[in-house]
Amino acid sequence: MNKNVFDLIDSLCTERSLTLSEYQSLIDGRTPALAEYAAERAVRARKEIYGNQVFIRGLIEISNVCKNDCLYCGIRRSNRRCDRYRLTAEDILGCCAEGYRLGFRTFVLQGGEDGYFNDDFLCELLRAIKGSYPDCAVTLSLGERTRESYEKLRAAGADRYLLRHETADKAHYEALHPSEMSFDERMRCLYDLKDLGYQVGCGFMVGSPRQTSAHLAKDLKFIEQFSPHMCGIGPFIPQSDTPFGKENAGTLELTCYLLSLLRLIKPNLLLPSTTALGTIHPFGREMGIQAGANVVMPNLSPGNVRKKYALYNNKLSDGSESAQCKAELASRMASIGYEVVTDRGDMKR
Ligand code: 5AD
Repeated sequence: MNKNVFDLIDSLCTERSLTLSEYQSLIDGRTPALAEYAAERAVRARKEIYGNQVFIRGLIEISNVCKNDCLYCGIRRSNRRCDRYRLTAEDILGCCAEGYRLGFRTFVLQGGEDGYFNDDFLCELLRAIKGSYPDCAVTLSLGERTRESYEKLRAAGADRYLLRHETADKAHYEALHPSEMSFDERMRCLYDLKDLGYQVGCGFMVGSPRQTSAHLAKDLKFIEQFSPHMCGIGPFIPQSDTPFGKENAGTLELTCYLLSLLRLIKPNLLLPSTTALGTIHPFGREMGIQAGANVVMPNLSPGNVRKKYALYNNKLSDGSESAQCKAELASRMASIGYEVVTDRGDMKR
């Protein structure tokens, strides 16, 4: 029975599913040769669906005010050293106008869980964005809300919602979050979003404190079963002003390997090569694409707030991480054989 790890990659390519213990063997048994094999298969699988296209999303960080106190996050409420800001509707519409001109056809409104952005505010904003740019997709990434709220936002025009599950293991979730947050509530949100017709993104950090290969195997199994449209993964990076400020960062190597496995589990998945990956290595984003990712999300926030959205230390927000430097991003992607396209970038079947 005991298949070797290369055979497990082959069965993943045909079955798109493995058992929890097989996923764990793939993680524990990885070698550079195995990772290379997985990446090669992942790139091949993606090419059949998306060719050499890379989708871009304009990321607008609308607020760093947050009522939550996640132990890993730099904008957690008890971080007194975080310089708080909130964009106005005019600021946000201005970012969309600039993004549209630059060739972005998806806007991602991301922020902390900030009560200021209530349903009325967001619905009016969504109607304004969709009214001005009917050919664009709007993605929200604003954390946990009630089903009724998700329903209203969807009706007002939101197409997609990103809410990382952070970890698919309940006890590990509890180790990363304060007691008032719950794994079950996070899952409730994800299932409600899907049920309401959103294109849904989940995701997790790689190398977060106390994470084991058994936890990662559960993440892969969860993604296989939940079957999201998108999945954001990036290395955990410590933020000095948080309880995890002295923990080790996740690695580029494991993140890229998991990107390859995710591509093999779900070949049409929208899989970003994240800012966190670009932050831990100068060519991190390129390496993510070469491992199987197909999305990048440059920063479209106003220049004066970018540094304040400090989820972790040294978070990139300029150079090709910036929407204004799309040409640099495009040439970096071209250098590895990929084309950045002006497209909503919906999931292909
Ligand atoms: N390192 C890496 N990723 C982080 N996030 C929050 N804090 C960190 C950190 N220190 C991620 C979480 C969250 C997303 C917005 O950013 O996964 O869902």
